[in-house]
Amino acid sequence: MEWDSLWFNGHAATMAPEGVVRDAVIAVKDGRIAWIGAAKDRPAGRAAAEHDLGGRWVTPGLIDCHTHLVFGGNRAREFEMRLEGATYEEIARAGGGIASTVAATRAADEDSLIASAAVRLQRLLAEGVTVVEVKSGYGLDLATERRMLRAARALGERFPVTVRTTGLAAHALPPEFAGRADDYIALVCDAILPTLAAEGLLDAVDAFCERIAFSPEQTARVFDTARRLGLPVKLHADQLSDGGGAALAARYNALSADHAEHTGEEGARAMAAAGTVAVLLPGAFYMLRETKLPPIDLFRRHGVPMAVSTDCNPGTSPAVSLLLMLNMACTLFRLTPQEALAGVTRNAAQALGMAATHGTLEPGKAADLAVWDVGDPAELCYWLGANPCAAVVRGGRLVKS
Ligand code: NIG
Ligand code: FE
Repeated sequence: MEWDSLWFNGHAATMAPEGVVRDAVIAVKDGRIAWIGAAKDRPAGRAAAEHDLGGRWVTPGLIDCHTHLVFGGNRAREFEMRLEGATYEEIARAGGGIASTVAATRAADEDSLIASAAVRLQRLLAEGVTVVEVKSGYGLDLATERRMLRAARALGERFPVTVRTTGLAAHALPPEFAGRADDYIALVCDAILPTLAAEGLLDAVDAFCERIAFSPEQTARVFDTARRLGLPVKLHADQLSDGGGAALAARYNALSADHAEHTGEEGARAMAAAGTVAVLLPGAFYMLRETKLPPIDLFRRHGVPMAVSTDCNPGTSPAVSLLLMLNMACTLFRLTPQEALAGVTRNAAQALGMAATHGTLEPGKAADLAVWDVGDPAELCYWLGANPCAAVVRGGRLVKS
């Protein structure tokens, strides 16, 4: 038998240079795409299982490349405070915000972290997500950061999804280090990150470079540590102000600079030169009632690849729908549907350093497919609150139908 499985009678939005293949055939062998093309060009050969797509559309499995999926508690009360007029920064400075989730996460054991994140993860998976990045960052001590990352990895074993873990120990200053940010960064660089890396729990390192978090100098120390550990970096950059975060990230050849609402031309130029992806997070923009739009035209003009993600987190973006983010990226940020779809496939893979294996439908890539009951791929960006996902294939195996 030439192939393990074969999918026919559908249309493929490959997200590769080939673009759209109508009346497509996708042949799978050993969990990878062995052949993809138009039915009329199908090479001779048979598959152990043949699946009729019934005229539906197929895209690469969706990739949610920026989440804080694992956390204790929630911040619904803080949401009410913000509706009453308090700002995100004011709440953070008053000891709420990230710090309140840190307290709830420190109090949660691994099983309850897994259980609460599993509910959110299943919502993502139901919409065709096959790869998800999960950050630590609500522990801010070695034991809890480790517990979060172990919970994230456990989710990847229990559910049909590829989990990438990112160490975000430099997310906020833990209360026990109040007034001693440099000491905390020293702990992150000398102990927390090296230990987590040695335990094999990190695929990348992230930080929050912002007035209410860490300075560019402190962020650079974290990035130097990542470099020493051989780990790629990402950055929460220029979310609330232009602190030069995107340019700093680019200096370290970061996989991505995320949020980037306040990034200026210099940052965009540096990102383009470094191949750093701009990860757009419309859920956080919307929840914070941000008015400063990310510089989409600058990113287009300089050729900065744009990804789109949920930023699923209890504070700024309690979002569990990547499809809704597609709509919001188009409606709020004026991305075209094509750009938005590239943002949850090809460019999201690049933002995770996975472009060689994921994010497009091409021979040799993982057979991660999402099958959609739509008349055109742009429809994925159109509906609000509908889920046209008809089937999901991961590594060649049907995991939802
Ligand atoms: O991506 N900006 C920093 N981190 C998160 C929010 C974390 C939180 O408020 O709990 C974000 O927006
Ligand atoms: Fe985030």
